[in-house]
Amino acid sequence: MASVKVCALDELAVNQAKRVVVDGVPIAVVRDADDNVYAIGDTCTHGDISLSEGFVEGQTIECWAHGSQFSLTSGKPLNLPAYEPVPVFEVEIADGEVLIDPSKKKESV
Ligand code: FES
Repeated sequence: MASVKVCALDELAVNQAKRVVVDGVPIAVVRDADDNVYAIGDTCTHGDISLSEGFVEGQTIECWAHGSQFSLTSGKPLNLPAYEPVPVFEVEIADGEVLIDPSKKKESV
């Protein structure tokens, strides 16, 4: 599947997550203070909680339910109770628009 435009870069507040659904896949899109943009699976692997409702800190996002933090770069949980990673998607910025390919997952780092 080709990359899909999900929003304008300007629509992303710094250090906040925006939930988008691309081809049925819920994705949390995050812009950090250095203007890097990340896209990770929006559903916490510990429970059916939207990670985009959580807290962004540096290159992590924290699930509000039980406090697991996930790396925005690798999708891996950094603390329990979650122990399974969420997927990480390729992000492209073109002409001020954010594009995501939900079928193209980055290798975990
Ligand atoms: S549902 Fe996310 S840490 Fe429990």
